[in-house]
Amino acid sequence: MKDVGVLNTTFSPRTTRRGFYVVAIYAMGAIISAALGLPALVYLLVPPRVRRQSEWVEAGEVAQLMPGVPVEMTYRRNRVDGWKVSSEKSTSWVVKLPAGQIVAYSPICTHLGCAYHWEQARSEFVCPCHNSVFGMDGKVLEGPAPRPLDRYQTKVEGKQLLLGRLTQSDPTA
Ligand code: FES
Repeated sequence: MKDVGVLNTTFSPRTTRRGFYVVAIYAMGAIISAALGLPALVYLLVPPRVRRQSEWVEAGEVAQLMPGVPVEMTYRRNRVDGWKVSSEKSTSWVVKLPAGQIVAYSPICTHLGCAYHWEQARSEFVCPCHNSVFGMDGKVLEGPAPRPLDRYQTKVEGKQLLLGRLTQSDPTA
């Protein structure tokens, strides 16, 4: 009778040994494929934990904020670009308004994106690029800026100020 390996229905020690090797080879192949493929599948299908955690970042201690005195806070924020997550330095101008509300502004001028600064003597935010001027409440006082300063969501946890998503300001506000 012709030997057809594992498909042979005749039970003999030789075909049993061959069948065992074939099954063992397939099993090892499956284990190696799973070992290599599972991490790739998890990487592709499960969103990175950092993406969920990057919604809120600690900007600094609330205790450093005095009413009516803007503070430029520097912190690190995770940036998610596709599947690449990188940590980058960010800043925000944070103001504790006289009523006690804490507001965090994007450090970018709403005209053409220059960095503005706080001028204590004038009690105004001034952008040197085209002389836009913003009040402590973020509203445009002078210059070509088309809308108030953009704001980050804020919340306080313990002693820390946390910043969330950036919200674009309303031009009519
Ligand atoms: S970029 Fe600020 S005024 Fe033009």
